[in-house]
Amino acid sequence: MADTNRQFVLGGRPDGKPDLDAFELRETAIPEPGRGEVLVRTLYLSVDPYMRGRMRDRDSYAEPWAVGDRLEGHVVGEVVASEHDDWEAGEFVFGRLYWSEYAVADGADLTPVDPTPENVTLPSYLGVLGMPGRTAYFGTLDVVEPGPGDTVVVSGAAGAVGSTVGQIAGLAGARVVGFAGTAEKVSLLEDAFGFDAAVNYAATEDHRAALDEAAPGGVDGYFDNVGGPVSDAVLTRLAVDARVAVCGQIAHYNEEGVPTGPRTLPQLIASRARVEGFLVSDYASRFDRANERLREWVVSGDVTHRESVVEGFERAPEAFLGLFAGENVGKQVVAVAEPSE
Ligand SMILES: NC(=O)c1ccc[n+]([C@@H]2O[C@H](COP(=O)([O-])OP(=O)(O)OC[C@H]3O[C@@H](n4cnc5c(N)ncnc54)[C@H](OP(=O)(O)O)[C@@H]3O)[C@@H](O)[C@H]2O)c1
Repeated sequence: MADTNRQFVLGGRPDGKPDLDAFELRETAIPEPGRGEVLVRTLYLSVDPYMRGRMRDRDSYAEPWAVGDRLEGHVVGEVVASEHDDWEAGEFVFGRLYWSEYAVADGADLTPVDPTPENVTLPSYLGVLGMPGRTAYFGTLDVVEPGPGDTVVVSGAAGAVGSTVGQIAGLAGARVVGFAGTAEKVSLLEDAFGFDAAVNYAATEDHRAALDEAAPGGVDGYFDNVGGPVSDAVLTRLAVDARVAVCGQIAHYNEEGVPTGPRTLPQLIASRARVEGFLVSDYASRFDRANERLREWVVSGDVTHRESVVEGFERAPEAFLGLFAGENVGKQVVAVAEPSE
């Protein structure tokens, strides 16, 4: 075991687009677990777009971090010491812990991680089998409600949530169209994730024309991860009784003000569309069933997944900043350490 524990704290509040100044690396002693606690060594750390909101001094659904606070994050790790009856050294766990190499967790807050089933990996518990997978599951099935004959459009389609949304909507019988930011992502959507059509939004300014070609019959369901010009276009092409799930608005996360001006709301009148913001945490009472179904789909190969892995704990800030530059395909994780055996 290492002698010291490295961890990131909030180094400063970003103004607009964050850079490395938002992060400060500190070295501390490795903490010791007390009664009922477990020492976890981080193997994989998740970086997520919503963390940008926590860097702002404004209350939202996730509490803001203060400058100097330890950055929290989802972790897949290995138990290295346990003072809790349910856990032994060597077991793999998932926890809501910290951007740190080691952390002490309450043994009651950890969940087991089994990387042995077909198509399941340790980092997949941070993506398709974790919070992003459950977000895709509830936002698609409960909000978009796709069915045969529907066309569903997904923005941020090649990311952790979006790539899973498209596959779940496809399993429900819909025709699925994705928007993503590179030609490589478009190919991956069509070839690996089973989307029926995909658009590289960065290659054209005429998103409406691109959408008309990919979805000539209009849009029955829209799963929005990004906002911005892609959503402006999609909202003008909603079919009657369309359903829109507002999951994320990453195109706006680095804006300090609220944008105003002529918007697309008039389009909702003719389409009688339902636009619903949702938070995955509101579905906690149904997580067990969602986890079970997602796992079945992954094991059977009905839902495939990708992780983008940045190697090295010290590169976690870089991995986070890459989310806003579209550097990831599927779930962005940081590989912090190898399992011990
Ligand atoms: N409501 C909830 O409960 C909930 C839960 C989890 C996540 N979310 C939200 O869901 C969205 C997806 O999350 P994720 O974890 O799956 O992230 P992700 O999609 O894996 O990563 C972010 C992606 O967003 C795209 N992007 C970045 N800046 C953009 C811009 N200005 N315009 C258009 N696209 C941009 C990039 O892909 P391209 O190369 O395609 O641009 C990037 O790869 C985020 O907005 C997140 O905040 C919401």
